[in-house]
Amino acid sequence: MVKSAAIRKLYEPYEIKSIQFKNRITMAPMVPFGVPGGEENSLGEDVLDYYRERIKGDLGLVVTHCFSVLEQDVGLRAFGLNNEKQKADLKKLVDMCHGNGTKIIVQIGYPSKGHHRHEKINSWTAEQLHHIEDLFVESARAVKEQGADGIELHGANMFFLNLFSSPISNTRTDEYGGNLEGRLHLAGNIIRRIKEFSDDDFIIGYRLGFNKNVRTDIDTAAALEKTGVELLHVSYGIREADRYLAPDYPPVITYPGSSRAKIEGPESFDFNDVVFTGTSVHTFVNIPVILVDEIWNLSRGEELLNKNAGEFIAYGRPFLGDPDFLEQSKENPQYEGCLRCKACAWFHDYSKCPKVIRRKKENIGKF
Ligand SMILES: Cc1cc2nc3c(=O)[nH]c(=O)nc-3n(C[C@H](O)[C@H](O)[C@H](O)COP(=O)(O)O)c2cc1C
Ligand code: SF4
Repeated sequence: MVKSAAIRKLYEPYEIKSIQFKNRITMAPMVPFGVPGGEENSLGEDVLDYYRERIKGDLGLVVTHCFSVLEQDVGLRAFGLNNEKQKADLKKLVDMCHGNGTKIIVQIGYPSKGHHRHEKINSWTAEQLHHIEDLFVESARAVKEQGADGIELHGANMFFLNLFSSPISNTRTDEYGGNLEGRLHLAGNIIRRIKEFSDDDFIIGYRLGFNKNVRTDIDTAAALEKTGVELLHVSYGIREADRYLAPDYPPVITYPGSSRAKIEGPESFDFNDVVFTGTSVHTFVNIPVILVDEIWNLSRGEELLNKNAGEFIAYGRPFLGDPDFLEQSKENPQYEGCLRCKACAWFHDYSKCPKVIRRKKENIGKF
């Protein structure tokens, strides 16, 4: 297979447990809002086609869009994975990935219309939280039964587990709050229970979002590793969090105890706050880290891997804008696939994406 000039690290294989990744190139989790779903809140043929157009060639890993641990959609676009139709369609997606030698990690989360509202998580009773814990565990079991390579708990982007892990949003005083251990109590219970049935070919991943500042994110990541998380994916999180250094925190370049990353401080760091948090977290954990957000092209992803800033590089909008993103990047590793619009149309109506409009005119593909 022809490879992009000067891109080497991204194409290096990687192994987690007994799972062999052909390379480090990852498609980020993205709900294809506006693409019609199937019956009974299953993926359906259109969403499978959306994936079929992108799962090909050199793609090493797909982290799927967030599936709901609830069977029904509750207002956000969230497919389920619990009834027979939902499971059957997930199996089709798993087989599609494996047919291309691409690994698949299925993101699961607890959706709620008010997921941006901090106070909400503080009013759940312990009984309700036990039920939600069960839903996560059963959904992870369903994912494993369909043959996927792992799950990713959605603990970022101000979603449910992110609200729990952050001291800004979690003001509980019971066992589900109070300190780091409490804030991770729910996630910890879920992880430990999934661990009971996940074997050597099933990865427990976690998408971590900003909690309060970089220090809190590092502490959270280290605690998650201790609990049994095997792959971290660092994304954005609580809006009010400090994105760079906490005042009491030493500059990144002199991180104490750093054995992994060689990254520079924010002034000369040519990546955004999400990537910065990801590389910072990477310095302090021993599990692999997926970096994501505005990395845009293979050259920049390669640069991060050369800095030993993470193990996997995920691309989101480049794959939305151009399903042939990787193929096009072979000739030009600075190719972006996406026009970096101020507001991405795929959040509302993919047919308004200028790249989709162009493809439609040229009669290429469906989504
Ligand atoms: C349309 C759309 C849907 C998204 N859906 C999810 C999702 O289901 N779960 C998630 O964790 N992140 C989701 N994201 C965030 C992406 O995974 C990714 O972090 C973000 O797009 C930044 O990466 P990029 O700059 O390469 O696009 C979504 C992003 C977009 C554009
Ligand atoms: S709408 Fe704009 S930002 Fe979103 S994928 Fe298309 S080109 Fe990229």
